[in-house]
Amino acid sequence: MKVLVIGGGGREHAIVHTLKKSPKVDHIWCAPGNGGIAAEAECVAIKATDIDGMVAFAKEHKPDLVMVAPDDPLALGMVDALEAAGIRAFGPRKNAAIIEGSKSFAKDLMQKYNIPTAGYAVFENSADAIEYIKKNGAPIVIKADGLALGKGVIIAQSVDEAIEAVKEIMEDKKFGDSGNNIVIEEFLTGPEVSVLAFTDGKCVKPMVSSKDHKRAFDNDEGLNTGGMGTISPNPYYTDEIAKECMDTIFIPTIEAMNKEGRTFKGCLYFGLMITPNGPKVIEYNARFGDPEAQVVLPRLKTDLVDICEAVIDEKLSDLDIEWDNGAAACVVMASGGYPVSYKKGIEMFGLNDNGGVDGATVYHAGTKYENGKFYTNGGRVLGVTATADTLDEALEKAYAAVGKISFEGAHYRHDIGKTK
Ligand code: AMP
Ligand code: GLY
Repeated sequence: MKVLVIGGGGREHAIVHTLKKSPKVDHIWCAPGNGGIAAEAECVAIKATDIDGMVAFAKEHKPDLVMVAPDDPLALGMVDALEAAGIRAFGPRKNAAIIEGSKSFAKDLMQKYNIPTAGYAVFENSADAIEYIKKNGAPIVIKADGLALGKGVIIAQSVDEAIEAVKEIMEDKKFGDSGNNIVIEEFLTGPEVSVLAFTDGKCVKPMVSSKDHKRAFDNDEGLNTGGMGTISPNPYYTDEIAKECMDTIFIPTIEAMNKEGRTFKGCLYFGLMITPNGPKVIEYNARFGDPEAQVVLPRLKTDLVDICEAVIDEKLSDLDIEWDNGAAACVVMASGGYPVSYKKGIEMFGLNDNGGVDGATVYHAGTKYENGKFYTNGGRVLGVTATADTLDEALEKAYAAVGKISFEGAHYRHDIGKTK
């Protein structure tokens, strides 16, 4: 069969790499793809958000399956448009993707259906928000309502910092229209866990757990990023907590979306915090996490195509999904200056043969391939990943490969897998 993967980051590279293993797949397109994906799939120069362009391509080339990986095409209704053209697509429709696209929608859903999450209030103007902050004090969490590439969240340690964040988001429009509304949340503490789950709207099958490291620098310092590295499994996600999450969060969320007439089919990402009062939802994403996919998918033993088909056909409960018992680690190599401003087009070295480390795989995120050379082409550049029997071994291998790769200004965290 022929598969089209929409997107062009490290997550999409991991998806393409996983699909390549399926004996059922004989051709993969990736739109737009990137320099590394080009070695494993036919890259097509269509922007991930170009719905008309993508539908036209799909009508002409007739993929048997389209995987819509990033959040913005999902939020824009890519799956609806593909389905309307008679093309089978994996991912939630627009009315369900809102669970990620609007934080206020997600918070209201959780409140209505008693799904544990941080206390919150939603504001449409800065004056009311500032008054609320003065009343509640710090630390306090300020979030732009819409999509902001994982950067629209400010953990304010003081009232002044919180007020400044509100002004930046609502008045200066630092995140554009994403900041028309803001959500202000109670500050929670505890280890964070990412659980991605397949769901066909009838049943939910969680994947192996993972942990993202969102801050830019070692010791969880610096700004929030899209993710600087991941490990799987997450050591804080015990069987007992997994059961509690299933009963109090996963199933109730699927049921809540059904009751709202917004059945979710695809990969639902639960960003959880294991607080002293039990697991709570920090955020939902309507898609595979990036770089969570880079550590979860390498541990998948079942054919990903079979899972996607079962989700689309609403037959997921019939399928047994198997996972490798070992571990995986991913270290993101980013451009100097990321997550603020950074240069592109810097030549990269040492990429041949996955850094020469057995068991390592380099997923390309922001790279370009030209005349036999790789160049940086984004903030997060590479996800250097390794699998092994234990987490320590996986980390050792991933860092060994990182050590072989270089480009001017490259920065990465040295403590992936070592912090809460
Ligand atoms: P989000 O984009 O909503 O996942 O938030 C990004 C990161 O900010 C999360 O991964 C947490 O580390 C942190 N965060 C978000 N909300 C809270 C909260 N209510 N309390 C503490 N930390 C939070
Ligand atoms: N790594 C977090 C995300 O994909 O949103």
